[in-house]
Amino acid sequence: MKLADNKATLSFSNGTPSIDLPVYHGSVGPDVVDIRKLYAQTGMFTYDPGFLSTAATQSAITYIDGDKGELLYRGYPIEQLATSCDFMETCHLLLYGNLPNAVQKKDFSSLVTNHTMVHEQMQFFLRGFRRDAHPMAIMTGLVGALSAFYHDSTDINNAEHREISAIRLIAKMPTLVAMAYKYTIGQPYMYPKNSLSYSGNFLHMMFANPCEEYKVNPVLERALDRIFILHADHEQNASTSTVRLCGSSGTNPFAAIAAGVACLWGPAHGGANEAALNMLGDIQKNGGVEKIGDFIKQVKDKNSGVKLMGFGHRVYKNYDPRAKLMQETCKEVLQEMGLEKDPLFKLAMALEKIALEDDYFVSRKLYPNVDFYSGIVQRAIGIPVPLFTAIFALARTVGWIAQLNEMIGDPEYKIGRPRQLFTGAVPRDVKPLAQR
Ligand code: ACO
Repeated sequence: MKLADNKATLSFSNGTPSIDLPVYHGSVGPDVVDIRKLYAQTGMFTYDPGFLSTAATQSAITYIDGDKGELLYRGYPIEQLATSCDFMETCHLLLYGNLPNAVQKKDFSSLVTNHTMVHEQMQFFLRGFRRDAHPMAIMTGLVGALSAFYHDSTDINNAEHREISAIRLIAKMPTLVAMAYKYTIGQPYMYPKNSLSYSGNFLHMMFANPCEEYKVNPVLERALDRIFILHADHEQNASTSTVRLCGSSGTNPFAAIAAGVACLWGPAHGGANEAALNMLGDIQKNGGVEKIGDFIKQVKDKNSGVKLMGFGHRVYKNYDPRAKLMQETCKEVLQEMGLEKDPLFKLAMALEKIALEDDYFVSRKLYPNVDFYSGIVQRAIGIPVPLFTAIFALARTVGWIAQLNEMIGDPEYKIGRPRQLFTGAVPRDVKPLAQR
């Protein structure tokens, strides 16, 4: 970051002397006011619950311009990455800062491929879960448990450990998600097949069984790969900030990523694709396209507690660029699967059209986010709804790791420790039990 020529001056109406605060420029996007010395100079904190105006870190990985609807990974527009690169190239880009050449791509992909198997003991650990456990409950446990299986890559302050754990996590997430799925449906786990691509191998581990030949469908393989690319990183969102905060204590990378998985599970974040598809299913059950008007009325009623899931975003105040790409993929997959007339897709398109014309959504700058269509794509691929968020976690793992490693390598890195405005009881004495 570069010190700007201008400064911010903070003045107070009660006579406290005003102070100058440094301002920094990034390479693009809003400047920041540096308040690190504010408490030492004034005895005051800033107050910003939800981080509406607070940059918690500097980062060179992902840039979002929410007003323009722009998303860049290391400077490259998401539209170009989604159409010209695959997920392995995207992982290389996020982790190391550059798109690989052909040799680097081959080396990186084979490194990941050679780490796809998980310790055989993991399946016995998995067996401890109820068969009907939510896949995200299982994933939170399995990812955290990796630190119990890979002791040689748990030192977050050791660059070699961070490198090995990064590759292990990217390689093993698909295996773990597929194992969690096979466990819930009572089928045998399928070992990874190293001749397949990252996405092809995931389809194989999910849908193959030992009794039959399984042929990867290239349209579905590409669709899944695009889902992975679109979800790979998204700047300082809730789960990424969780990973950074958790990792800032020096905990091991597997534990920090498990914290990210737990955070992602929530319906306001990664759980939204599952929630969006369930919402479409409910509307369909209650009358379908005809009843969209009634549903929109409910959404607009503050007391109903109903939200249009898959709509709205903290940062995008224009169309989420990932939603456009996902809508394209949605059409391709439905056509491939002979589901062009899929009622949920039709319902989603109709709902989107109505919402985009409605003043409630227009005035609040609420547009579809990536999750509005990703659920329909995943369902068409054959992925069961409760697994959607686990797929998101699989894809986001590379972003979490890239952000975690960036933080550890930052000379200004400190343990994350927010402060508070205390509004509780002032000091008081404990009375003996009989007098309370
Ligand atoms: N449906 C109806 N109203 C909404 C929606 C929605 N989906 N999203 C926001 N609003 C309304 C709010 O009620 C609020 O209205 P008000 O000003 O009259 O009080 C206004 O729009 C602003 O919304 P906030 O909640 O303040 O926006 P915030 O930035 O805090 O929330 C969030 C963003 C959590 C994503 C929200 O839009 C939401 O809950 N959307 C649905 C869930 C979803 O799709 N999440 C996925 C996010 S993308 C991802 O994680 C990959």
